[in-house]
Amino acid sequence: MTQLVKAGANWVDGERFFDREPEVEALRELVLNGTHTLLTAQRRMGKTSLVRELLRRLEDEGTLTTVFVDLEDASDAADAVSEIAIRARPVQRAWERIKDSFSNHLGAVRDQIDEVGFADLRIKLRAGIDAGSWQRSGDQVFEALAATDRPVVLAIDELPILVNRMLKGPDYQIAPERLAATDQFLSWLRRNGQEHRGRVCMIVSGSVGLEPILRQAGLSAQVNTFSPLELRPWTEDIASDCLAALARNYGLEVPEHVRSEMCRLLGCCIPHHVQQFFDHLHEYLRRAQRSVATLEDVDEVYRRDLLGVHGQIDLEHYEGRLRMVLGTEAYTTALELLTEAAVNKGVLAPASLGKYIDLLKSQDSTSQIPIEAVLDVLEHDGYLERDAGGYRFVSHLLRDWWQARHGQFFIPFGER
Ligand SMILES: Nc1ncnc2c1ncn2[C@@H]1O[C@H](COP(=O)(O)OP(=O)(O)OP(=O)(O)O)[C@@H](O)[C@H]1O
Ligand SMILES: [Mg+2]
Repeated sequence: MTQLVKAGANWVDGERFFDREPEVEALRELVLNGTHTLLTAQRRMGKTSLVRELLRRLEDEGTLTTVFVDLEDASDAADAVSEIAIRARPVQRAWERIKDSFSNHLGAVRDQIDEVGFADLRIKLRAGIDAGSWQRSGDQVFEALAATDRPVVLAIDELPILVNRMLKGPDYQIAPERLAATDQFLSWLRRNGQEHRGRVCMIVSGSVGLEPILRQAGLSAQVNTFSPLELRPWTEDIASDCLAALARNYGLEVPEHVRSEMCRLLGCCIPHHVQQFFDHLHEYLRRAQRSVATLEDVDEVYRRDLLGVHGQIDLEHYEGRLRMVLGTEAYTTALELLTEAAVNKGVLAPASLGKYIDLLKSQDSTSQIPIEAVLDVLEHDGYLERDAGGYRFVSHLLRDWWQARHGQFFIPFGER
């Protein structure tokens, strides 16, 4: 049996990648059919890892050529085009054509291009693309990818971050010219996806949901060429198997009922949270110089470490993403709604929500993003789910984090 290695801070593949076989196969099937896919899931579910692992396997098998692009730092369409171009560098036949198309502005480096370092080359490529030329350059990049001997899988991670950035100015208003530019970019992507279907297959994913952002802008139709694929949490059985595999590899014994308690505490087996829990438990037992975990140990580690300062580092990342999508004003609303839920056993009841909406009205709130859109983001990105009793935290860990971080001085809506 292969050994499962601990994850570390980033996405995982190979010996760090656990299970997800049905999901890998589902995504593989879509890709082999040439279906463009929008991979969705709540945060830290393993979207990037799933895509990376599939790409790794496809490369190993030699069936398809793969290109992975991360648009987290891109600000506009020209950034996106140059990033796709440079990430195509390892695909030799595509790269030859890209060099030809960009030869004008690559100038003197054109002939020694393969010796130029990645960072310099990226700057050179980017400098040659501007607001007037990005579409033509982008078409050429897609044509180059489509002309290689094997079909290409083009994975684009963090597209929603770019779209969000393009749409919203510093004031989080969606100004008409921003809307038009984003629409044009998405149309371009869509047109290339259609034109090169069967030759270039796209997988789009991101740490924030694309659909709520597009709904805010009225641009939802731009992604209907993509088939959605939802990545779900691990079942308790799979999470427990993952914990057992990690324990085996690091010389620990974590009995089944203890693993089951770990899953119960998390409430929702998001792979990253399962890994974090194991990490903290491992460290705790190492310090105690023991190798067998008990129920008391995991309760203690959950409370002290996962909910403590170190464990909460991740929460900052969650908050950062929410603020990025919502802007300060609507982000404050999101914090209020989540904290109200956290202090009420994880539930935001309809009456509380109604009270809060009244409060906002009485304060003449100036938020550019209406409360419905805030709830849409919170629901889509997996913080809250809706049921008959209102909105409820999906993950107990997230609920407890929220309570630990924001609950202490919070005045419930009903008492304001
Ligand atoms: N298949 C897996 N096997 C083992 N661990 C996993 C797996 N998938 C995800 N993880 C854990 O989750 C963490 C986050 O994975 P990844 O970055 O792929 O998630 P993501 O959904 O892309 O996150 P984000 O919402 O930040 O974009 C990894 O560091 C790892 O700890
Ligand atoms: Mg990711």
